[in-house]
Amino acid sequence: MVETSVICIPFLPNVNKTFANAHPVWKGVRVVRQRLVFRKPSGTSPLNSYLNEVIPTAVATYNLKINGKIRRVDTDPATPMLWVLRDHLDLQGTKYGCGIAQCGACTVHLNGTAVRSCQLPVSAVGSQPVTTIEGLSAKGDHPVQKAWLEHDVAQCGYCQAGQIMSAASLLKTNPNPSDADIDASMSGNICRCGTYLRIKEAIKSVARK
Ligand code: FES
Ligand code: FES
Repeated sequence: MVETSVICIPFLPNVNKTFANAHPVWKGVRVVRQRLVFRKPSGTSPLNSYLNEVIPTAVATYNLKINGKIRRVDTDPATPMLWVLRDHLDLQGTKYGCGIAQCGACTVHLNGTAVRSCQLPVSAVGSQPVTTIEGLSAKGDHPVQKAWLEHDVAQCGYCQAGQIMSAASLLKTNPNPSDADIDASMSGNICRCGTYLRIKEAIKSVARK
């Protein structure tokens, strides 16, 4: 089967297996998180013609600057960077929490500023550098990461990559943040384990150094 294009439609539970069994043309359907990605066979079948008419989405190629390296990605322009990082580039430190920019688990830096990668389409990145938790420092020794260890911040750890990326962005623009500054900047990062007090102490300790 030759991959000629990729079409994304909203996720429907169990539809993957149903399609795959329904007709040989659906072999190669795979579920990617909240989307179905259809890999169409080459040729001019009536189904291909129909899909090309009703769903004109096409794959585009992006050369993204991720953690200081150029990484090539072929995907639908609407793909959120969260899934580009996790599914295409295997950078799984960036986490999925809500998918609607409400929890901060997916926070990365775009041009040094904290952004929610779940709401950042790959087509909007262009030549702007993206930094993930894997690229924040070479050996995990960014001052914020060291402070996190010193203050034993993490509990389950799920939210902490996003917390660290938000804190690093805050301290870069405001090296001595007040309590109110920290609250305002970190309020979009949710921690179900309630590590907020230790997060604040860790941020303050970096500011004091
Ligand atoms: S997954 Fe992006 S903000 Fe929650
Ligand atoms: S440490 Fe568990 S969600 Fe934050």
